[in-house]
Amino acid sequence: MTYEEIYKLLEKHGQTQLLKYYGELTEEEKRVLFSDIEKTDFSIVGNIKNKGVKKLGRLAPVGAVTKEEIKRRKRLFEEVGLGVLREGKVGAVLLAGGQGTRLGYSGPKGTFDMGLTRSLSIFGLQFENIKSVAAKAGRHFPIFVMTSTVNNDETVKFFEENNFFGYPDDRVFFYIQDLSPVCGYDGKIFLSEKNRVALAPNGNGGWYSSLIGSGLGKVIDEENIEWLNIYSVDNVLQKICDPVFIGATVMKNCRCGAKVVKKVSAEEKVGVLCTEDGKPTVVEYYEMPDEFKSMEKDGELVFGYGVILNYLFGVRELNNTLGGKLPYHLAEKAVPHIENGVKVAAKEPCGYKFETLVVDMIKLTGSCLAYEVEREKEFAPVKNATGADSVDTARELLIKNGVTL
Ligand code: UTP
Repeated sequence: MTYEEIYKLLEKHGQTQLLKYYGELTEEEKRVLFSDIEKTDFSIVGNIKNKGVKKLGRLAPVGAVTKEEIKRRKRLFEEVGLGVLREGKVGAVLLAGGQGTRLGYSGPKGTFDMGLTRSLSIFGLQFENIKSVAAKAGRHFPIFVMTSTVNNDETVKFFEENNFFGYPDDRVFFYIQDLSPVCGYDGKIFLSEKNRVALAPNGNGGWYSSLIGSGLGKVIDEENIEWLNIYSVDNVLQKICDPVFIGATVMKNCRCGAKVVKKVSAEEKVGVLCTEDGKPTVVEYYEMPDEFKSMEKDGELVFGYGVILNYLFGVRELNNTLGGKLPYHLAEKAVPHIENGVKVAAKEPCGYKFETLVVDMIKLTGSCLAYEVEREKEFAPVKNATGADSVDTARELLIKNGVTL
C-alpha cells in the first residue's frame, strides 16, 4: 500500500497516530510499519465502545459433583477415566500464550523457577504430574502447547534444554496463537516501537481455532482423540488428564467438564460457573454483578463455584464451535509503549488488550459438569509477584503438598 492509502485506512479508523514517527524512519522501518498496519484488524478496537461490559442474561447457580461424591465414587470414576486414557482418546492442551504481566517476570511464565534449594520450573512441575498419569495409563498422551509469537522461541528452547522434562519429545506439539492490537483508554492503538504496532496475544479463547489452524488437527484425527483437557500454565498444582475427572464427566454423560473450587470470598478473583438463560456459562469476576457476587444461602455463596482453568472438552462439540465467533473482552493491562518518542515500561495498567476467553466456549458446548476439587490440593495460581495468588502463596501450597522446593 502507498503512504496515501495507509493514511486513508488509518483515518477511517481514527488511528493516524500510528504514523507519528514516520518522518524519522528509514525505508526499511517504514516497510515494517506498513506491513504491521496492513495486518492489523482495526475492527477489534471497536469493542472498546461497550468497555467489555457484557449484557448478561438470566443467571442461575449450578450444582456440582461435590468433593464428597467424588470421594465416594473415586475408584469407579478413576477406572472409567483410565480406560478412556488407555484407549488413547485424550489429549492435553497447555495454555501458555499469556504474557503474565501481573507477575512482572520477563520470560514465559512456565519457565519461572518455584524452587528455593533446587531449580523447579512451573513447566517441570506440571510435567511431573503428567508423567505420573501417563505411567498409570501406560500411554503417553499428546500434549499440545499453545504459545504466542512473543514467547514461542523461548518456550521451545526451554523444553529442549530440559529434555522435555522426561516426556517423549514427539508427544509434545507446539503451536502459536494469534495477536490483537493494544490501545490506550482513548482507543488509540499504541506503538511498541516507533515503527511497530503494539500487539499482544489475543486471549486464550482462540486455543482451538489456532490449534486447528496450525495443522495439528491431523494428530487429533489420526489418533481419534475424543477429549481435550485444557489447562493453564499458572497453576502449579494443576492435575492434568486427571482420570477421576475424565471418568466423572463421561459417567455423567456430559460433553464438557470444568474443575471448580468453592470461592473463599465474594470478592475472590475467579470466574464463576453458572447458567445464563439456562445454558452453562462462566461469568468472569469483573463482569459479575455485585448482588450476585455476594448472594448467600445457608451461609454459603450462591454463585460459589469458581473455575480454575482446567476443562475437559469433547472434540465433536469443539468442532461445532469453530464456526462461531467468540466475543472480545477488554482487559486493562500495563502495556509497554512509545510515548513522546521514548519507550515507557508501564508498571500500572494504561490501556486495553482485547481477548477472547476460553470460558465463552462453555456456552457453545451446551452441557458442562461442575467438578469440585480440593482447593489446597489442586489450586495454587501464580498470578501476582506478591500478595494473593502469588509466588509466595503457591510455594506455601507446594510445601503443604509435600513438594521439596
Ligand atoms: P491470564 O488470564 O492469567 O493472562 O491467563 P496472562 O496473560 O497469563 O497474565 P496477566 O493477566 O497478563 O497477568 C490464564 C491462562 O491463559 C493463558 C495463560 O498463559 C494462562 O495459562 N493465556 C492467556 C494464553 O494462552 N493466551 C492469552 O492470550 C492469554
